[in-house]
Amino acid sequence: MEKFKLLPLLFICIYSSTFANTRLDRHLSATEALKDLNFMYKGRGMVISPDLVKLYDTMKKLGLGLGETGILNKRWGLNLKDGEIKGFFSLPYKNMQMGVLGCVACHSGKAAGKYIIGLGNKNIDVGQIGADAYLAQLFWGAFPRPNKPEFKEIHQRAMQFTGVLKNKNINNLTQGLVPTSQVKTWFYEVTNTPMPKDFGRGQVKVPQLWGYGEKRKSGSFWDGFADGVLPGWAVAVELRGGQSAQNVREYENKIHHAEDMLGDILPPDYPFEINSQMAKKGKELFNQTCFKCHGTYERDENNHPIFKSPKFIPHHVVKTDPERIDFVTDDFLALIDINPLNDLMKYKKRENRRGYVAPRLWGIWSRFPYLHNASVPTIYDLLSPASERPQFFDLRESGEKERFDFERLGLKVARDKNSRQYKSNARNAQKGKRHTYYTERVGHKNIGHEFKFYKDLTHTDKLNLIEYLKTL
Ligand code: HEC
Ligand code: HEC
Repeated sequence: MEKFKLLPLLFICIYSSTFANTRLDRHLSATEALKDLNFMYKGRGMVISPDLVKLYDTMKKLGLGLGETGILNKRWGLNLKDGEIKGFFSLPYKNMQMGVLGCVACHSGKAAGKYIIGLGNKNIDVGQIGADAYLAQLFWGAFPRPNKPEFKEIHQRAMQFTGVLKNKNINNLTQGLVPTSQVKTWFYEVTNTPMPKDFGRGQVKVPQLWGYGEKRKSGSFWDGFADGVLPGWAVAVELRGGQSAQNVREYENKIHHAEDMLGDILPPDYPFEINSQMAKKGKELFNQTCFKCHGTYERDENNHPIFKSPKFIPHHVVKTDPERIDFVTDDFLALIDINPLNDLMKYKKRENRRGYVAPRLWGIWSRFPYLHNASVPTIYDLLSPASERPQFFDLRESGEKERFDFERLGLKVARDKNSRQYKSNARNAQKGKRHTYYTERVGHKNIGHEFKFYKDLTHTDKLNLIEYLKTL
């Protein structure tokens, strides 16, 4: 008798533990696959001049400059771990060795000392990488390679790519921001359209990729402007890197597969203690105010997040820096209509496209500095009036534990006006140092996301909200 009663229970246990494993397993295999994901195809894509990567291979062997705080990390903002650059590969093509940039060069990063795949890289500086790689390639390509027939063409494409990245009129002014203008230039080139003078930079921080399975349905990117169900946008950087539209068609299925896989990535859990009393109060407050735009947050029976699509919020409501949305001009949209991959890259037809998506907040503890332009270092600052937010802050080592602000949640920044650190940050901001965020720069304003209910938020309310956000 006893035996029979236990059977269904046993069945449920086995069933639910397999189910739990599948979601976790899918997450693990997705991050494992993303780690190596790149779209080099027929020697083209985000590649540097052929064989130049051999220098890096040699450095790796000798252990030069590849410490976790080495020069490649400080100057270029690359993720260095276990003596190698994450998301940079050395792959053979014909009788050449290709240096290839993969997705996790940008789509992985550190927070509070933890390396997280799918988090945006807080320090990547493509403008600096472009300028340095351009120079190196200039010397590298000076000699003919008679026994390597494709060298010249691939080299020239790499020069063109780094030439765009280093263009001071359109590139990022600060590390940790990526200029989407680089992708926009491709549309002008491929349609032989002259670039307008006020091209814009379109600087944004790299978004997190967990939850993308639902997000793409409502529109990709910070403003949700792109049709994310189609596969073209995910490889827009590859086209800019020198891939041909024809080649992209040949590996379309690989893109579909890769994008589906992104939907399996789970957010990182907050790695420190959470005060559950405060979090409970914070949740109540969140569900009275923030939920209107950011939604509510539920978990499945195995405690994994249930992902949902985020909402689009018009700019006149959120009022954050408009540079990124104003950069999507009517001219640009018209070129998207006629680009050679216009069946794979479309934009969402919206009556009012001026606005930003209110991101879903899973794993938000790790995604600082906050907002699409990374202009606000902590949640506490984001919940305070814009006039009280820091105007400049140092970005160096921003993913390390020493730089983690547990209380305000986010990046720890110098606030005492009399401290040496504060004064030196002020000087670096004025001098235009790329490792110092300065809200006076174009596209860097820390305005907006300041709502009527803010005036009623007490210090304790903010701390409770922060505690709740840690649970997401
Ligand atoms: C140079 C850095 C960089 C590299 C390399 C890169 N991305 Fe991105 N990615 C970005 C930035 C920046 C955005 C946000 C652009 C925006 O919203 O305007 C983005 C957005 C995305 C999005 C949309 C996310 C969302 O929330 O809407 C997807 C999907 C994506 N990237 C996939 C990839 C894949 C796959 C690769 C590898 C082929 C890749 N990215 C390589 C910087 C990069
Ligand atoms: C009226 C709509 C609205 C309300 C209400 C609102 N937000 Fe937002 N929130 C947005 C939008 C839109 C963005 C994106 C703005 C941008 O990136 O420029 C955003 C961005 C954020 C971000 C930054 C996300 C990131 O990836 O950097 C956080 C954190 C956030 N909100 C938290 C909150 C909290 C907590 C509350 C409640 C106290 C709240 N928001 C209330 C619309 C709203």
